[in-house]
Amino acid sequence: MKISIIGIGKVGSTISFILAKEGLASELVLYNRTREIAHAEAIDIQQAVALTPYRLMVRDGDLEDTAGSDIIVIAASAPMPKQMQARSALLAKNIQIMNTLIPPLLQHSPNAIFINISNPVDALNYEILQIIRQHTHLNPWQRVIGTGTLIDSARFRDLLSAQLGIHSSDINAYILGEHGDSQFAALSSAMIGGELIDANPLRQQMVEDAKRSAWTIFQAKGYTNYTVALAVEMIVFSIVEDLRHTLPVSVLIDGYCDVSDCCLSVPCIVGRDGVHRRIKTQLNAEEILAFQKCAHHVKQQIQACYQ
Ligand code: LAC
Repeated sequence: MKISIIGIGKVGSTISFILAKEGLASELVLYNRTREIAHAEAIDIQQAVALTPYRLMVRDGDLEDTAGSDIIVIAASAPMPKQMQARSALLAKNIQIMNTLIPPLLQHSPNAIFINISNPVDALNYEILQIIRQHTHLNPWQRVIGTGTLIDSARFRDLLSAQLGIHSSDINAYILGEHGDSQFAALSSAMIGGELIDANPLRQQMVEDAKRSAWTIFQAKGYTNYTVALAVEMIVFSIVEDLRHTLPVSVLIDGYCDVSDCCLSVPCIVGRDGVHRRIKTQLNAEEILAFQKCAHHVKQQIQACYQ
């Protein structure tokens, strides 16, 4: 399995290290605009592999060296100033970056699954899909996946786990919609062992606390990397081993809650071909409106870039 990581900043390097540590690839290619950073990270990670039970090649390369990738992780982004107040501030510049990166990546790896983490992840995931559509006249939406609210669901489950005294992996509760301000918790279907989680006001506060935690981290250290990196690892693992895990990831929405032509997070079955199925979670009327509000918010971000 050949995996290329595009953009070797704090997040891209963390992802590269974790994928190597877990032995999820036979070859990792690290691409960075500043080549010596990718080169140093590749040497450092290759040496770390000597302490794992795996055999894999880790190298830096240019876009041509990514040829034949099975998975391409997009972690390239415009710089994120600490005073940034919204992920959407990055969209215009990141669309430009994607317009320079995606066509050559696609040319060298026409069947690759793209995993996008760059923000604003939903709008940018949609734009990446648009670029692929323009260059191939195909609509491989199953192979264009954004980390989306997998990260937010992890944060929410962590808070619920602490409060309920139940392991987070046994809490079937999803944050859905936009990886951003309009995200919401699908509490009407949140369960533990088949028992509905009571949707008291405290839960809504937890959703806000989970949302705010990302900014607390970002404003203190200028980036977040660990949760998003393990989110990528979870997606890659489900692809590489064809595990068919159900993960809330950003994907093209086609009619669910009367939303279309937009990328948002819904629970998806992820396997060797990318997204095998988008699950139509049962939502109550309030949650359906919240999902539609997410779509409006993401579409507004994109429209603002083209005005
Ligand atoms: C976060 C970034 C990845 O929420 O948007 O951690």
